[in-house]
Amino acid sequence: MSNKNPGISRLCKDFLLAPETDIEKVGAYAARCRIDLAIIGPEAPLERGIVDLLEERGVRCVGPGKEAARIETDKAWAREFMQRHSIRGSPAFGIFDEKRAAFEFIDELGDVAVKPSWLTGGKGVRTMGDQLEDVDDAKRYAGELLDEGKGPVVIEEKLIGEEFTIQAFVDGNTIRESPAVQDHKRAYEGDVGPNTGGMGSYSCPDGLLPFITRSEYEEGLAIMKEAVRAMREEVEGGYRGILYGQFILTSAGVRLLEFNARFGDPEAMNVLPLLESDFVGIMEGILDGKLPSTTYSRMATVCKYAVPKGYPVSPKKNAILRIGDIGDAKLFFASVNEVDGKIYTGTSRSLAVVGIAEDITDAERIAERGLRGIEGEFDCRHDIGTLELIRKKVRRIEKIRSLQTE
Ligand code: GLY
Repeated sequence: MSNKNPGISRLCKDFLLAPETDIEKVGAYAARCRIDLAIIGPEAPLERGIVDLLEERGVRCVGPGKEAARIETDKAWAREFMQRHSIRGSPAFGIFDEKRAAFEFIDELGDVAVKPSWLTGGKGVRTMGDQLEDVDDAKRYAGELLDEGKGPVVIEEKLIGEEFTIQAFVDGNTIRESPAVQDHKRAYEGDVGPNTGGMGSYSCPDGLLPFITRSEYEEGLAIMKEAVRAMREEVEGGYRGILYGQFILTSAGVRLLEFNARFGDPEAMNVLPLLESDFVGIMEGILDGKLPSTTYSRMATVCKYAVPKGYPVSPKKNAILRIGDIGDAKLFFASVNEVDGKIYTGTSRSLAVVGIAEDITDAERIAERGLRGIEGEFDCRHDIGTLELIRKKVRRIEKIRSLQTE
């Protein structure tokens, strides 16, 4: 880790402070510590090829190699991969490395999402009516991205609906899915403001969400299964690791917004505490191509992030956070730095509290109680997991469903 995360350091016999993207340093450290098994969390080292490097050095590794990780790290590649294998779920899209053709396609679609093809920590996608005012604004943003020279832009038909996440363990063939989760990307209460990595999330005891049916969940899962099957034709050994599908339920059915090659943040904090099966056994099953079955306890979860004041526009770094009595909430540290026993904010999300209970109301109450135990300056979204916000989403989907049947 690049900063000393007290949650991680307290679990460790030893740790290295270095950027996760410095894969040579991480590889040398893994060899020095004679590591048996590495599980790769974030996407940036996957993009650099950390799995390929560690495996070359004899460290067994859960996570896709550089080639397979393109399913997340290269959004243009991911859409073309889906098209090549006739995988359902993509909206109308085009991939452009020059402005004129991109602008013409924006005019043709009229209502669009503009995505950089490269990694942006979840903050790169902008849609019209949200972060982009109109067609001219969409063209301006697409042009700016192309001027960066980092790769093509993906222009997609704007999708309207409610988002949900499915995360799964994959051993190259078999896929074991976890409960659906809904993340909240917008920075401010009421689902407004700039996009963030995710301000909080919730899941329900039945593994579904109040606005999706079993068959809609299965539709999303089927898209993930098709991708895993197709990956066997693209890369040797197929896709091994964690696969994350970000879906949106629209009036035309379930569509895939994007794949990630890892657990979601915050969504991992909803599902992993519910996992009843042995985690290390699952990791070994991924490596051996013998993924065991997995079970999750049937509980509700609500996760809320505390973030630096001003995040994500002008986050206030180095503010002190003190952890007091957080009741029954679980606590997970993220972008913080511990120096001389004090915890300082970084520029990204600081720490999350998770409530787990038999129903969502109690889970939300536990998470709120957790937030009250954190002292210091931070922002958060109190509305996540509240019945008021969930009901709003259900009503929105009812409206969208009524368009389906018209
Ligand atoms: N929650 C979105 C992500 O992990 O990318």
